[in-house]
Amino acid sequence: MIDPISPHLPAPQFDVYAPGRVNLLGEHVDYNDGIVLPAAIDRYVHLQAVENSIPGVELTALDLGEHISFDLENLQADSLPEWARYPAGVAWVAQQRGLTVSGIRAVFTSTVPIGAGLSSSAAVEVAFGALWNELNGWGLTRLELARLCQQAENQFVGVNCGLMDQFASACGVKDHALMFDTRSLEFEPVPLPPGTVLVIADSGVRRTLAGSAYNQRRADCEEAVRILRKYLPAITSLRDVHVEDFNQWAIHLSERVQRHARHVIEEIARVQKAVHWLKQGDGAAFGQLMYEGHASLRDLYEVSIPELDALVEIASHLPGCLGARLTGAGFGGCTVNLVQEDAADTFVQSLAQEYTQRTGKSAEIYLCRASAGVFIHKE
Ligand code: GLA
Repeated sequence: MIDPISPHLPAPQFDVYAPGRVNLLGEHVDYNDGIVLPAAIDRYVHLQAVENSIPGVELTALDLGEHISFDLENLQADSLPEWARYPAGVAWVAQQRGLTVSGIRAVFTSTVPIGAGLSSSAAVEVAFGALWNELNGWGLTRLELARLCQQAENQFVGVNCGLMDQFASACGVKDHALMFDTRSLEFEPVPLPPGTVLVIADSGVRRTLAGSAYNQRRADCEEAVRILRKYLPAITSLRDVHVEDFNQWAIHLSERVQRHARHVIEEIARVQKAVHWLKQGDGAAFGQLMYEGHASLRDLYEVSIPELDALVEIASHLPGCLGARLTGAGFGGCTVNLVQEDAADTFVQSLAQEYTQRTGKSAEIYLCRASAGVFIHKE
């Protein structure tokens, strides 16, 4: 838990903690009806708020030193700074659904690094969503809350993301990864392999064009489905396409769309195998699939960068490392490493040293624990 913010807000006060997430496998498959394997992590957006007597919202982003007030009527993304679009988007979607949204005075801070692929924006959305869910008695389940937050990002912020990040922040389970089927919306917590820990390595490179490149990847997947349906009429998403069928019909797609669709189809098959190994507690077999997943994101989906490739390559030679890959959308951010517990300290030091030697940059590297989803204290 992070320290209280103490912003001198009057009581009754709500304290909300919404975690970031790391994804162990299943990248760029959540908007293709695939299965993902994220875990909520022990890094949080911490929000403190009181209900306002007037219908407006007053927000302070402590880490940025910025303050803004806005009306809940006629919300427009363009008129807000980027950081305020996430809470405003949640309010906007809720109002579109006919839910009451109270005015609030709120202050928030975050230990989830921004733009590092650990879902800081989803954590902000989920924190504000959980607050209004409580304050205004919306009665949404955690999964419903995640969907509302995803809609805020799709329709108000303008990033056409899948459901994984908001789901993990809302539904995380302590000490477990979450096997989440984004088609059926069923999920099952699965423990990490015994004797292993998760290490996050932050390349220090921040995403810049992630939004537009992300939307373009998604458009490619949609194009692949549209064309492949002529030959495979039963499919509704890339989840339905078997590798053999894809091999037969891929020739009808442009080369770029072929590469991108192939990643998705093979990654979905990889997650299905990985879930088997995870349930068997076989960290080595699972880790091997993490390496394969990284290679596919690098060579087929084209969302890696040299710094992330260096982190994975270095990790793969270090003692006790079972698997490593970039995590999240890519274009910068972090890798996730599955490491034997007794080798973790040396692993962290060696990875940091070799990364600096190789790239001249410094990486922040730390162990993370799988955490529970969003939680609220009322004082
Ligand atoms: C971002 C999106 C997620 C998911 C990942 C890639 O984090 O928000 O929905 O698509 O990228 O797996």
